[in-house]
Amino acid sequence: MEWGKFITVEGIEGVGKSTNIDTLVERIEAAGHKVLTTREPGGTPFAEDIREILMNRSDEPVPEIAELLLMFAARSFNVNNVIVPALEAGTWVVCDRFTDSTRAYQGGGRGLPMETIDRVADWVHGDTWPDLTILLDAPVEVGMERAGNRSKPDRFEQERHEFFQRVRECYLQIAASEPDRFVVIDTTRTIDEVREQMSALADLLIGA
Ligand code: TMP
Repeated sequence: MEWGKFITVEGIEGVGKSTNIDTLVERIEAAGHKVLTTREPGGTPFAEDIREILMNRSDEPVPEIAELLLMFAARSFNVNNVIVPALEAGTWVVCDRFTDSTRAYQGGGRGLPMETIDRVADWVHGDTWPDLTILLDAPVEVGMERAGNRSKPDRFEQERHEFFQRVRECYLQIAASEPDRFVVIDTTRTIDEVREQMSALADLLIGA
């Protein structure tokens, strides 16, 4: 049985991950592939509990290294219990965030060393890396404005503009350093233009 393809979607808050994931999934399913969508942190009951703690507990300072390890603890559940079994069964997996989020937020945003992050990543998921990563990009002001219209901000959304600026820059650097795996989409373009680009990407993946 041929393994499914593993696709991840990345970007700062407010760049439109959910809508664009829907477009991508619809197109891949229409071509006859089974698709599983998941998200990080989260994706399994245990990992969703870790997500709840990571996003919403604010009664105690969270050391950066604890944040990093909890992200990877959640990822270990998702990789072992959801992602790899699906890929093995030939199902395609579209994951809303993965280790590039850890590189951008805990590395770029919080300043943890990239070598440490990559060493833990290797330990947690070895060769399980996405076949394709779509980076949805927009200036921080644009993302913040869109995200700001939603409900109560979580622990990450409460960060300052400079934090997200570092996260965005780090994402763009990672994308530039791995051009074979990354596609960057400018989400300041019209909704229709972005949808077109997502559909074109899906067509490339399915070989249409
Ligand atoms: P979201 O999936 O709803 O966008 O929220 C997840 C938040 O968690 C977002 O602010 C990014 C952050 N995050 C990290 O800091 N590191 C990670 O490894 C992951 C997966 C998410």
